[in-house]
Order: sequence, then C-alpha cells, then structure tokens
Amino acid sequence: MERNAMKAAAAIAAVEEVASGMVVGLGTGSTAAHAVREIGKRLASGHLDRVVGVPTSQATDDLARAVGIPLIEPGTAPIDLAIDGADEIAPDLALTKGGGGALLREKVIAAAADRFVVISDDSKLVEALGTTFDIPLEVARFGIAITTATLARLGHPQLRSADEAPFVTDNGNYIVDLAVGPIRDAAAFDAELHMIPGVLATGIFVGIAAVAYVAGSGGIRRIDAGRPA
Ligand code: A5P
Repeated sequence: MERNAMKAAAAIAAVEEVASGMVVGLGTGSTAAHAVREIGKRLASGHLDRVVGVPTSQATDDLARAVGIPLIEPGTAPIDLAIDGADEIAPDLALTKGGGGALLREKVIAAAADRFVVISDDSKLVEALGTTFDIPLEVARFGIAITTATLARLGHPQLRSADEAPFVTDNGNYIVDLAVGPIRDAAAFDAELHMIPGVLATGIFVGIAAVAYVAGSGGIRRIDAGRPA
C-alpha cells in the first residue's frame, strides 16, 4: 500500500467511530483531509446524518464546507469525537503535531473532545518525540527575537517560513520549529516550553489521544492509550 492509501485507510477506520448526531472535531493535514472527505461522503449517501463539525483550521473549514459537513463554532456544543493526524506518535500516544501550523487550534479541539482519535501511516511511529520531527511551537510575533533566543537554550529554533516570509498561522502568530532530538520526558519538556512567555502553544500533545489507527503494509493497527504498543 502506498503512503496516501495508508493515510486514507487509517482515516476510514477512524470515521467508523463517527455516529449520527455527533459533534466531530475535524483535524488538519493530508491524513485528516481523508477523514473529512469520508464524513462528507457518508453524510451525502445517508449512512450518517445530523453530524456537525468543528474545524481546526481555515483549510479544514473550506474542505468541510466543500464536502457538505455543517460546521459549528467551538464551544457551541460538546465535542464527542475529534479526529486528526500527527507528525510523530510515541508508544504511549504522546504526539508531535503542527507540521501544518494548526497546532494551537488542533490542541484546543483535541483536548476539549470526549475522545481524541489519531490517524496516520506507520512512518510516524517513533520511540520518543523529537526523533524524526522538530517540535512546532506557535509563538507571539511580539518579542520573537527574545523568544527565539530563550528557545536556543533548549535546542535549535528555526522560524518557519513560507514564500520567503515568516509563516503566519490562522491566529496571526509565527511558528518556530525546535530541533531537540529524542525527548526523554515529553510532559516535563512541554511544561518547560510553556514557561517561556512568548510560547503560545506547543506541538507536544501528552495524555490527550485515546486511540491511534496506524496503517502499514500489513493493514491497520489500533493502539489504545494505556495499552502502549
Ligand atoms: C497540522 O498542523 C498537523 O498537526 C498535522 O496533523 C500533521 O502535520 C500531520 O499531517 P499529515 O497528515 O499531512 O501528515
């Protein structure tokens, strides 16, 4: 199975958890997009009804509207289930997220959901966060040089750019990608990052995911939090 087919297979497995009448947090990125399209397809075919979505980015908002998923504002109703991709998945389902720059909204929605489901292909599985992916951080534009200098004590910070200008998030902030190498204690490192005033959100998601559907050449593997791989 090639990568995109794996992402689609994981997304379809997760959408099996969506029931009619649910409020669903809609993630961002190429894997989450498969889930959004699958929910849209099931609504159109009548296999699901009365499902509403809470998007985690403008891109997902646009896609969800295009495939016919009604959307609500965050906080309007409890979120039953959120589905999203990840950049790294550790055995205890700690995640690195934010490759697409939507980490702040993704974390708000994932943490608010009754159940957070992660979907990916098996290239995202790691023994420790930080191994294959730099940690994305959403940072305030104000004082960016101070924040970056502070972050340099913890790793190698790189201001993310797009089209030769700094990348700007949907919230109007910057992203710094922090290269740190394998992180021994993700929760402790996350707490340390949150001590830095200019850091608004981190791409370290600890204790939020309930289950991961991970697709590989041998099929879909389900990893439950509390029962590590
Ligand atoms: C978006 O900000 C990210 O957190 C994505 O969920 C993550 O980067 C995974 O993206 P892909 O599904 O495109 O690999």
